[in-house]
Parts: sequence; structure tokens; C-alpha cells
Amino acid sequence: MSIRIAPSILAADFANLESEMAQVSTADLLHVDVMDGHFVPNLTLGLPVVKRLAEVSPLPLDVHLMIEDPDRWAPRYAELGAASVTFHFEAARDARQCAADIKSTGARAAVAIKPGTPADAVTDLLEDVDMVLVMTVEPGFGGQSFMPETLPKLTALRAAAEQAGAAPWLQVDGGISVETAPYAVAAGADTLVAGVSIFGPADRAGAIQAIRDACRH
Ligand code: DX5
Ligand code: ZN
Repeated sequence: MSIRIAPSILAADFANLESEMAQVSTADLLHVDVMDGHFVPNLTLGLPVVKRLAEVSPLPLDVHLMIEDPDRWAPRYAELGAASVTFHFEAARDARQCAADIKSTGARAAVAIKPGTPADAVTDLLEDVDMVLVMTVEPGFGGQSFMPETLPKLTALRAAAEQAGAAPWLQVDGGISVETAPYAVAAGADTLVAGVSIFGPADRAGAIQAIRDACRH
């Protein structure tokens, strides 16, 4: 199975985002973490910054909203150029409607679950979304340790999707590296977010290739 890699700019140099993005152009997507200081205890960036990133990014933007009231805000991110918009199941009032509103703009829609949220919570949404994000750390901060206890959710979602005749991408986010990525892929993930393990090393293209190689074995 060929995997997609989405470097997370949360680990990049925020004073030089354009050149940081250019250095990861061999990846598949650019992961952008939007945090509001309420849904998670951290604050990052919002609509005007995402709009400019979409204009200059060499890769499609994969926007991960860790915000309250995604029902209101998610379609706005889709309208201004994000290729994919992910909202948290725990924050949404009407997840099915939120996904439909994102898709109506032409963007891909994805739903995310925190480590404490069971896979069952989103199984009846598998036909409504293009991707499910299984968080492999508590959302809010980069550089945390991968939580292997989240992996069975990927296997369960892969099986439930097949049963429903759906084929959403399955994404993991948090603590993904050459060491942990193969476990996530073996459990069913096909789309890998990685922050520190890609932007930490000086050779970002090499770091991306190392993760691809690790997942081939
Ligand atoms: C965490 C964010 C992640 C974060 C991952 O809440 O959603 O996208 O950047 O960072 P690493 O790969 O460093 O754990
Ligand atoms: Zn993220």
C-alpha cells in the first residue's frame, strides 16, 4: 500500500514558513494545525494565515481544526483553499452536516477522534467523510510520545469501512517517526502526519523518504 505523508508545520520555523514548506515538497500534503486555546490548551493560527499558506504552498493543505464550533468555522477554511478540512467529532454539534458543508465547497472532509474517543463513535460517519483521523497523542502540542493503545481503532475502522462499502483514508497524527510509522501502517493507517520527525532534522526530504522506506517493510 502506498502511503501519504503530511508534514506538520507546527514543528516548522514560523518566521520562515514559505521556505520551510518548499523543503517538504516531496511529501503529499501539508498539515496545518489550527488551535483555538479552548478545545485544546494551545493557540496557533487561523483563517488569514491559512489563506496565505494555501496560496503559496507547493502541496495541498490538510487543515486540522482543534477548535470549538467547527460547524460554523470548518466550511470557511474549505472555502479559502484548504484541500482537506478535519474537524473533531468531540467538538461538532452535527458531524454529518459539518462534513457535508465542507464537501459542498469541493474540499475533502475528515473527522478526528481523540485518544479517549472510541472508534464506534464515528463508524456511522464512514460513508460521509473522506478521511478519519485517529489521534495518536492528546491533541494540542507537537513532540509528544506516540500512544500505541490507539492502534486497534485503526484496525476496527478499516474493517467497519470495508463492511460499509466505504474507503475513507485513515490518518494518524502525533509521535509519528521511522520507529512508530510502521506500526500505524500495519494497523491500517495510510496517511501519516509527522511534525518533529520531519522538521527536526536538517534534511527534511531525507526524513520524508526514511518514513516512506520504513513503511515498505
Ligand atoms: C498535535 C498536532 C500534531 C502535531 C504532531 O495536536 O495535531 O499535528 O504537530 O506533532 P509530532 O509529529 O511532533 O508529534
Ligand atoms: Zn494535527
